[in-house]
Amino acid sequence: MGKELKIGVLISGSGSNLQSIMDACAAGAINGRVVCVISNKADAFGLERARKAGIPALHLDHRAYSGREAYDEALVATLREFEVELVVLAGFMRIITSVLLDAFPMRVMNIHPALLPAFPGLHAQRQALEYGAKVAGCTVHFVDCGTDTGPIIMQAAVPVLQGDTEESLCARIQKEEHRIYPEAVRLFSEGLLQVDGRVVTVSA
Ligand code: GAR
Repeated sequence: MGKELKIGVLISGSGSNLQSIMDACAAGAINGRVVCVISNKADAFGLERARKAGIPALHLDHRAYSGREAYDEALVATLREFEVELVVLAGFMRIITSVLLDAFPMRVMNIHPALLPAFPGLHAQRQALEYGAKVAGCTVHFVDCGTDTGPIIMQAAVPVLQGDTEESLCARIQKEEHRIYPEAVRLFSEGLLQVDGRVVTVSA
């Protein structure tokens, strides 16, 4: 087993995916450690989760910067300070720019609550319900310069049930998120992910 991967997690809210990754690190399932958590929202519950686990938790307010690039420069500076090797977006509700992507090429992951390429962007679960989809799910992918367009690492499907609300569908999807996101980070931490164009393969 190689050296421990230093993971930086960006959040905007509850941080339940952050929790699943911190738990997997603590349990030894991921050969890595969350070294910092950054939120653009001061009241994100995920910041409390991080502090409780003894992990540096920072609020970087996007409104204090002149634009997306300037904000991403501040993110990169902070992530570098903590010597982050993998950036994990976990409910980070900001569009990121090439400033961050160029600093961490193929080293930024995201989780999206839909089976991409269906339903990118905001309110993915609502989009699936309104479309009448019978299967929904979640996708972990490397981030590229598009919105939810990067190479897919893992996906999990769940049924859409009659009578589902956005909340009930969201909860069913999140259960799968908490399973596949730590698993994708584990594969990365062990150097098992190969990217060829759009296609990600897992080495044996
Ligand atoms: C997750 O369901 C994630 O898929 C979604 O935000 C939620 C964050 O929950 N992300 C997006 O919609 C990205 N476009 P969490 O803060 O409890 O991990």
